[in-house]
This record gives sequence, C-alpha cells and structure tokens, in this order.
Amino acid sequence: MAGVTDYIFRGICKEMGADVLVTEFVSAEGILQADARTRKYTEFSEAQRPVGVQLFGANGQRMGEAARKIIDWQQPNFIDINFGCPVNKVVARNGGSSLLKDAPLLAAVAEGVVRAVAGQVPVTAKMRIGWDTQTINAVAIAKTLVDCGVQVIAVHGRTRAQGYGGEADWDVIDAVARAVAVPVIGNGDLASGADVARRRRETAVAGVMIGRAAMGNPWVFREAREVLVNGVTPPPVRLEERWDLVLRHCRLAVASDRYGNECQTITSMRTRLMAYCKSFAGAKDLRQLLCQVTAVSQIEALADRSIGLAAMKDEG
Ligand SMILES: Cc1cc2nc3c(=O)[nH]c(=O)nc-3n(C[C@H](O)[C@H](O)[C@H](O)COP(=O)(O)O)c2cc1C
Repeated sequence: MAGVTDYIFRGICKEMGADVLVTEFVSAEGILQADARTRKYTEFSEAQRPVGVQLFGANGQRMGEAARKIIDWQQPNFIDINFGCPVNKVVARNGGSSLLKDAPLLAAVAEGVVRAVAGQVPVTAKMRIGWDTQTINAVAIAKTLVDCGVQVIAVHGRTRAQGYGGEADWDVIDAVARAVAVPVIGNGDLASGADVARRRRETAVAGVMIGRAAMGNPWVFREAREVLVNGVTPPPVRLEERWDLVLRHCRLAVASDRYGNECQTITSMRTRLMAYCKSFAGAKDLRQLLCQVTAVSQIEALADRSIGLAAMKDEG
C-alpha cells in the first residue's frame, strides 16, 4: 500500500505473522530513470522474504525493462503488476485499474513483464473486479492474465468506480478463484481472524490479503494465523503492547533516516499514528494531539497519559 507498506512497516507485519509482503507500488518510468527515491521503495530486508515488488505502467516493454532492473538491484521473490489502482493520476496515464477496460493493452503489459523476467522470478498481478458495476469482467481478465503467464492473481473485490467505498464483492472473487487454475488471493474488508477464516471457508481462494486493517492493527496477522491454525481468537491486544509498537515504529522510522530528521519523520507519520490509535479510549482527544506531534518524546508522553487514563478507568 502506497505510503503505508514501507520498509519499516513491512518488517512489523512480518513479525506479526504476514506470510508474503508486497512493496508500495512503483512506476516503471521511475525505475527506468533510476530515480533514487523510486529505488528506495523497492528495498527490503532478507527477513521480509518472500517479497514482491509491485510495478505499474502501461507499456509492456518498459514494464519488462523496469522489472529486470529491479531484479538486478534487489532479487525480489516475484514481480507484481498493479491493475487495481483507482487514483486519477495513475489511471490518466493508462496505468492501474484503467487497464481493466483495455484487455489487449493489459495483456501486452502482462506479457511484456512475463517475457522480460522469464526463468528468473514469477510474475503475479493484483486487480479489481472491473471498472464499474456495468463492466465487471474479473473472470475474463483473470483468464487473460493466466494466458499471459501470470502465476498468482490477487483480486480486490471492488470496482474502480467504488474506490474504497461500499463493500468488496466476494462472490466475484470466488468466481475468479473457481475459473482459473492459478492460485487466487482474495482481498477486501478483512479486519479480523474471523473474517479471514470465513472467506477461506466460504470461497475457493488459495489465500487472503489484508490491507487497511493492518494499518492500525498489524496484530491482525497474528490473530488470523491463530484462528486458522488453532480455531481460537486470541484475547485483545493490551493497550501497553499497542503503544510499545507505536513507539517502536516511530523510533525505527527516525533511526532509518528515510524520512528526514526526527521532526520531518514524525510529522510524516501523523496519519499512521492516528490509524494506530483509532480504537483507543479517548481517541478523539488523542487525534487532536497527534495532529501536532513532532518528536518521539511527545508520543511517549501521550502513551503514558493514555495508559494512565485507561488504568484509572479500570479502577473506577
Ligand atoms: C493508502 C492506500 C494505498 C494503497 N496502495 C496500493 C498499492 O500501492 N498497490 C496495491 O495493489 N493496492 C494498494 N491499495 C489497495 C489495497 O492493497 C487493498 O486492495 C484495498 O485497500 C482493499 O483491501 P482492504 O479492505 O483489506 O484494505 C492501497 C490502499 C490504500 C488504502
């Protein structure tokens, strides 16, 4: 997820039990221009494997060249192609979900990448179920991708027109999973271990992908694993443990130097902090305060206050 699954957060998700990770998407053109910032998006640690680097673009040959360059730099476990991004800036350049409307161009992109990396790494794809409700074509698109040599397909059960609103349509995801011979990964609205277990039980998907829920609750991977393996939902994560992780995330981000100095790093993390704290008692007040933080020490003070308040409430 762009702006979310950076080097540091992927490490956290891995610790929490995520099996497979994918980088934030990068543009093929950015890679080919060897833009230093774009290259940074493709970095990962050995502990994060298996990792895929996700590419977007609309030119098969350029995408193939970019994929090869990424393999030279980082040797990811797979290259993933984005056919799902709904953002205007990407769609306007024929990237992301706009390719769902143009099957020949989508096939050219997929073939270009598959051919360029043949014998090196597998190619996977992430798609939405269609452009809008009138043109849901996920089964046909998935078959095209398989014909092009794509080896795993992740399906986000929304149309481009839905953006992130409404509900993911798991019937369509299930239909895709039943229609193609490659593993299909279902995605959309999974927020708990119970959600994961239900979709695994009720559909033919080979696996599931968790997006937004992980932003505030990376423990969701641990919970899903517990439910799938032992059939038991673990007790809720304690507030102290949540704050410990928030602070660790902040300290790792500052120490990494990826986002500038401490003030710049913490400022850039404010939305992330709000996501973590959404479910905390007094979240409304916390949000106001988190809007202003510029240093780890301020977040430490907020953590102490929040834990203290919760303890008082428990006693009361
Ligand atoms: C902030 C944000 C950034 C995202 N960036 C990407 C991306 O770079 N590549 C991608 O395939 N999907 C991206 N997505 C979509 C998610 O991967 C996922 O398909 C979608 O949020 C639905 O799953 P969820 O309900 O579990 O969040 C992004 C979503 C959000 C909210």
